[in-house]
Amino acid sequence: MAKADMDWKNIGFTYRQTEQRYVSDYKNGAWDNGRLTTDANVVLNECAGVLQYAQTVFEGLKAYTTEDGHIVTFRPDLNAKRMVDSAKRLEMPPFPEEQFIEAIEKVVAANADFVPPYGSGATLYIRPYMFGTNPVIGVKPADEYQFRVFVTPVGPYFSGGAKPITIRVCDYDRAAPHGTGHIKAGLNYAMSLYAIVDAHKQGFDENMYLDSATRTKVEETGGANFIFITRENKLVTPKSDTILPSITRRSLVHVAQEYLGMEVEEREVLFDEVKDFAECGLCGTAAVISPVGKIVDHGEEICFPSGMEKMGPVTKKLYDTLTGIQMGHIKAPDGWIKVIQ
Ligand code: PLP
Ligand code: COI
Repeated sequence: MAKADMDWKNIGFTYRQTEQRYVSDYKNGAWDNGRLTTDANVVLNECAGVLQYAQTVFEGLKAYTTEDGHIVTFRPDLNAKRMVDSAKRLEMPPFPEEQFIEAIEKVVAANADFVPPYGSGATLYIRPYMFGTNPVIGVKPADEYQFRVFVTPVGPYFSGGAKPITIRVCDYDRAAPHGTGHIKAGLNYAMSLYAIVDAHKQGFDENMYLDSATRTKVEETGGANFIFITRENKLVTPKSDTILPSITRRSLVHVAQEYLGMEVEEREVLFDEVKDFAECGLCGTAAVISPVGKIVDHGEEICFPSGMEKMGPVTKKLYDTLTGIQMGHIKAPDGWIKVIQ
């Protein structure tokens, strides 16, 4: 087969069906060995746990074509681990970490024609997920589950690509103390839909969520963590038990310290101090690093000195180093890059 014929530079962040996906079923207390299938549809009983009580968790990672033509994934072991944590919190049987990585390898290899070429600006988004499949009517965990992985080629998450976006401080909360904000459960995204549709209607690209207990601290957006750069070139990133532990953010902390010699602070970030930062960005697998140019808090604007035209200089260095590692022209720390055979 040949590379899929696509306008790679303009594919956007949308679902495009590819050839093969991975499926494994959990029955009688065990996951089976899994298999690839061309069937993109899932047929479920009307009373399946996922349909009635939203028992589903997912992950997101990407495959890249490197400069020398290999297909690689970035730190899939961390996605495997995070999915175990997510599953446990929703009383689902953890999917074995090794089998998770094997599944990723199989699906990416089977859809190699859909991995965008080096330099195209597009990547292959990988979506592992699992859900309760058997009928559940009293509120309790399902007994049977399915784990699946599909892939879809994607462009930038925000349509302007690397252009700074405008976000607003959101009046709705994303996560409660001791709730599920730290796991990747579908329910966290369902409850963010009203807020994101409203944000878009009001002309904003995203929502900045504050901590729901005090509404004084910066948490995250609906799909990415925050990074800030101080006027002294320090990286500051919010620490909270109610945000998703972003793999991109954890990687950027290492890149900042070890590759760029920057000081890093992972700590509570008060909304009140945001106006003093020099740069702001959203980081995540889908977002990579999306620069934020402006934050609007009920009519009051915080405009970062980096402006609305391009990424701030320090954010750009972080972006170039991280994507350089992912695309293979900067040496990666041991274990970060997994070559797909
Ligand atoms: N926060 C939320 C709510 C997310 O959905 C994501 C996306 O996965 C992230 C942060 C970023 O996490 P990661 O860098 O692991 O993709
Ligand atoms: C990701 O970055 O992988 C996510 O899951 C975010 C989602 C909002 C697309």
